[in-house]
Amino acid sequence: MTTISTAEEIKHEAERFARETKNSDALMAAIVKLLHEQMLKYNWVGFYLIEKSLTAAQPPMLVLGAFEGAMTPHTRIPLNQGICGAAASSGQTVIVDDVNSDSRYLACSIETKSEIVVPVYVRGEVAGELDIDSHFPAAFGPEDRGLIEHCASLVGRHLEHSSR
Ligand code: SME
Repeated sequence: MTTISTAEEIKHEAERFARETKNSDALMAAIVKLLHEQMLKYNWVGFYLIEKSLTAAQPPMLVLGAFEGAMTPHTRIPLNQGICGAAASSGQTVIVDDVNSDSRYLACSIETKSEIVVPVYVRGEVAGELDIDSHFPAAFGPEDRGLIEHCASLVGRHLEHSSR
């Protein structure tokens, strides 16, 4: 792949993937690879998808899907736990500049300093999220937020129209 650098160029590359990819799992895999390769402060990039429980007794869970970076112990996260759970249950983007000062934080790597989690909406409901960890404090500014929210919305729209 050619070297691309600006957030705008990465958005266009993600849009091209969304147009050319039929399968949403393949699109998510391509987007995490793109963001991990091109954004040097994005040290772990992954999607979690909400698994609806078959019985009312079991709460819905966030289940790890495509990711790039080190394996995480958090492959299944209840909606009331972690920064991931906070984003999914509120339906809002959550940015944490210093994960060690946030009591919600579920640690994946001792190197992680900051995190962003963006919900993925499908037909008006949260269906999953895009989670990114950085080894740098306060790594996610307005331009990062715009890029990551754009990628999450591309996946949401793709899930509305495609198979997984
Ligand atoms: N830190 C997340 C858990 C997932 S890992 O970052 C991959 C959280 O607090 O929910």
